[in-house]
Amino acid sequence: MDSMGVAIGHVSGPALQASVDLLAFTAFGDPTKDALFKSVDGALGGVLADVARSESFEGKTGQSITVHTHGRLPARRVLVIGAGPRGEFATPAIRDIAALAAQAANRSASGTLGFVVPALGASREAMLLQMIAEGVIMGTYKFGRYLTSEDHRRPPSLKHFGLITDVKGKKPTAAQIRAVQAAVSRGVTIANAVNHARDLINEPAAVITPTALAEDAQEIAQRHKGTVSVTVLDAAQCADLGMGMFLAVGRGSEQEPRFIHMTYKPAKKPKKRLCFIGKGITFDSGGYSLKPSQSMEDMKVDMSGAAAVIASMDAIATLGSPFEVHVLTACCENLVSGRAYKLGDVLTSMDGTTVEINNTDAEGRLTLGDAITYARTKIQPDELFDFATLTGACMVALGPYTAGVLSDHEQLVRSWLAVAERTGEDMWRLPLNSRLREQLKSSVADMRNTGDRFGGAITAGLFLKTFAKDTPWVHVDIAGPASVSTTRPAQPKGGTGFAVASIVEYATRV
Ligand code: BES
Ligand code: MN
Ligand code: ZN
Repeated sequence: MDSMGVAIGHVSGPALQASVDLLAFTAFGDPTKDALFKSVDGALGGVLADVARSESFEGKTGQSITVHTHGRLPARRVLVIGAGPRGEFATPAIRDIAALAAQAANRSASGTLGFVVPALGASREAMLLQMIAEGVIMGTYKFGRYLTSEDHRRPPSLKHFGLITDVKGKKPTAAQIRAVQAAVSRGVTIANAVNHARDLINEPAAVITPTALAEDAQEIAQRHKGTVSVTVLDAAQCADLGMGMFLAVGRGSEQEPRFIHMTYKPAKKPKKRLCFIGKGITFDSGGYSLKPSQSMEDMKVDMSGAAAVIASMDAIATLGSPFEVHVLTACCENLVSGRAYKLGDVLTSMDGTTVEINNTDAEGRLTLGDAITYARTKIQPDELFDFATLTGACMVALGPYTAGVLSDHEQLVRSWLAVAERTGEDMWRLPLNSRLREQLKSSVADMRNTGDRFGGAITAGLFLKTFAKDTPWVHVDIAGPASVSTTRPAQPKGGTGFAVASIVEYATRV
């Protein structure tokens, strides 16, 4: 889809000799103390330091300077990007820096870019290279399908992004070259999956229907014939399984619901079975508990969890995993019509639990509840995760950039959060306080689907826990970070593809 055609390669040889349109490197704090800065400045007769001084460039995060070399270096231009103090630099921050470099190249009509990989120690090298590749691809992402003006149709100028790992002029060994290539190709695979999820999220709900999501999953399975299979269930098949909650949510729409089940099987006997569920509401109007227009405007993003798990499967199959990996998503639209589910309805879920509907806008937990029961009874995974744009309350608690993580399985939640920390996706644990369960009490059914205003993200988690039962399970509420209205270099406005990086890391890194 919208993934840009930039080749990411390895340039060996000293940075000063790189013959590129743009030479980019980082400065960790005071640039005049940086060896590369000094040597570039020397070659340019002191111009770089002059520009740094006059533009108050101090190597802080977000700062950058550019100078033309006027033939004094093989590179046409030099870009120095501030990275803040070296001791405080977290590896994932390199994504934004690489993205910034790629964007600067495209702005200045540069076809080739040499990016000097900062020396942060051998233990961080592979992740650093991977995340540079991710930053380039995620940072040049653009959802431009519906922009018809010439400006937007022109292809980006950047064709070659070269990683300069050898600053001191030593020749890299064959093993070093292979390690660089492996890290870069891992990054490319993950970033393409992130951008694919972004495409699915950014497309209007009129395009990305439950059927379209199922077709996307089928295409991915086609591309990984030996390892990935997919089963798509229609409404009648879901009815046979007793998915009364899922089907009720989708009943108000002309679009048929689809239950998607993708399976990855490794060649060797799997070490464990993982299951990733994504919320797949392709449009959430709120149903009869109708959302006001402003809150509904962006509700095509309510399938971001589905987009994340489906796109992740593509990357997992490309990279290979020692685990059996299942992806599930119960996809439908939450609309109003003469057939739509109503307040006061009592639904019977796949596990037999009855649920009184006191708010049709709390639809995600209903679809997820049946998907969780399907996972628990048909797949019996060792570990179960769900990703859902579930509650506004989670955004009230944590802000728009941080996902809420809820679980009562200490070990699983810790290993999940450790992975998120490594990938740089902001996640924070919220308590799954069972005292709030009383909010879900109903006098006509086993429970109702919403509690009070306070603790909304937690009662949603407790609702899901009812269906997960004793399966080791982690719930990730991505209502905030699934899409953003502000930008950062590696993350343009709109769908973010949040959770893809962590899902792939969790499923493929042993
Ligand atoms: N899809 C929404 C949650 C949401 C809000 C996602 C904002 C992304 C951005 C969800 O289905 C919903 O409507 N939740 C309700 C729950 C309430 C009725 C208990 C909410 O948060 O208001
Ligand atoms: Mn809703
Ligand atoms: Zn929703």
